[in-house]
Amino acid sequence: MVLLEVKNLTVFYPNSLSPALDRVSFQLKKGEIFCIVGESGSGKSTLLRAIAGLLQPGCKVEGEVTFKGEKISSQRGLEKFLGKEVGFIFQEPSAYLDPLFKVGNQIEETCLSHFPNRNCREKTLNALRYCGFSNTVEVYEKYPHQLSGGQKQRVSIADAVVNNPSLLLADEPTSSLDVSTQKAVLELFLKLKRDGKAVLMVTHDFGVVWEIADRVLVIKEGKKVEEGSVFEIYGNPRHPYTRKLVEIFKKLSLF
Ligand SMILES: Nc1ncnc2c1ncn2[C@@H]1O[C@H](COP(=O)(O)OP(=O)(O)OP(=O)(O)O)[C@@H](O)[C@H]1O
Ligand SMILES: [Mg+2]
Repeated sequence: MVLLEVKNLTVFYPNSLSPALDRVSFQLKKGEIFCIVGESGSGKSTLLRAIAGLLQPGCKVEGEVTFKGEKISSQRGLEKFLGKEVGFIFQEPSAYLDPLFKVGNQIEETCLSHFPNRNCREKTLNALRYCGFSNTVEVYEKYPHQLSGGQKQRVSIADAVVNNPSLLLADEPTSSLDVSTQKAVLELFLKLKRDGKAVLMVTHDFGVVWEIADRVLVIKEGKKVEEGSVFEIYGNPRHPYTRKLVEIFKKLSLF
């Protein structure tokens, strides 16, 4: 089942004559992990933010976005679904979590703002458990600075999943983590997939792609250059740019 469809998505930043994203199209199915890869400045974050409706004011967005069969204004993206049916995971959880509030209260607030009558404290503890914490009551009471980077990232994933969304959008969610913590967070994404959620993830790390992606979209200078299953992209990259990215990864992984 197609969950999200993007057609000819194009983004112009304010006062820019050339688009940062140029007619990008793809489909994301339920239960699929879809990675967007490309070098720095290729338009990955722009694509994800346009879909989420998180671009700065003044950007011009063209094209079509369809979520669960409903046509969405491309200018707004999935803004109205955020926090409920769509979760967004940021690269740097410290920038996202409020230092002044306990992490448990922050997650509970995400639940309460959409479902005022639910037992949100219990939902919060469940979300923390889902994200790998066994001492959930203790973690609930912590302030962000009392947690490690990986713990903070798992808290922000708990915040993204507390309302049981069907789609998760993640912009480089593991790039600020060390390798072993990265592994734990990637495991969590695989668990989300097993539970039927779709994940659209931006990364420039082919190692991450290899570990978790079902499908891959490669972009360069705002344009889609290639799309395929992870096996197609690795085994038989058609575009020279993809070949270059894959070769760099293969060389790096030898060491
Ligand atoms: N707020 C902005 N205003 C104007 N131009 C921008 C803005 N943000 C990004 N751009 C431009 O859009 C293009 C794509 O940027 P984007 O942030 O999407 O790249 P990226 O692929 O996410 O890169 P990275 O891997 O470094 O995060 C770049 O040329 C960038 O300079
Ligand atoms: Mg980026």
